[in-house]
Amino acid sequence: MSPVRPAFIAGNWKMNGALAANAALLEKLRTGLSLAREAAEIAVFPPFPYLDQASRLLAGTAILLGAQDLSDHADGAHTGEVSARMLAEFGCRYVLVGHSERRALRGETDEEVARKFGAARAAGLIPVLCLGETLAERQAGATLDVVFRQLDAVIAAHGISSLRDAVLAYEPVWAIGTGQTAAPEAAEAVHLALRQRLASQDAAAETPRIVYGGSVKADNAARLFAQPNIDGALVGGAALYADDFLAICQAVDP
Ligand code: 13P
Repeated sequence: MSPVRPAFIAGNWKMNGALAANAALLEKLRTGLSLAREAAEIAVFPPFPYLDQASRLLAGTAILLGAQDLSDHADGAHTGEVSARMLAEFGCRYVLVGHSERRALRGETDEEVARKFGAARAAGLIPVLCLGETLAERQAGATLDVVFRQLDAVIAAHGISSLRDAVLAYEPVWAIGTGQTAAPEAAEAVHLALRQRLASQDAAAETPRIVYGGSVKADNAARLFAQPNIDGALVGGAALYADDFLAICQAVDP
């Protein structure tokens, strides 16, 4: 972790949760994080229907709210979609764009992800741009080609300055939900390459936080966070358990 960039720990709940379980989880996070000496910015990303509940339960705490996706349109005849403005109205500060599950399961293209990035920005939300290669792409030695292609689509659409205070999340697809975390040094190499690509185009763009996602757990978080270019984590499964998520948050500053 860098002393300059504040750490960011985000819990992506994916399509999990229920009113009672959410209330219990958020209450434990409220209590746990208010007792801790927090060195990190912490955010949770519940499914859309629970954003209002989470926003109310997190009021007055330092825990921030994010959404898992958004429409690339501002409003209108897009049945089933949710706009950036709506997310902002419900207290979201962040929104994930381009999560690999949406790229793989919903066929989101780099161009659509870039449009969503722009829609988030237009409504004042901070996009968390997810990038990552599949196992086949890694085995073919194409990791950097893939993450650069995904990054470059956003730069082409919105310019390098649009990334200055965004968050990048490097999530190798083969590490998501598999228990196979990337080796900290291997993840660091990708983070460093991403940072160098940003800096080569705009010195000020050196600053975005680049967090790692993919089977981050309480017992591997500190080793990941020890890398200079890993600025936090996008946590899936472990974010559903208060003790595990709190332990990951506390691994920022052991
Ligand atoms: P897991 O932590 O369950 O591997 O999920 C990572 C992820 O996809 C977060 O967005």
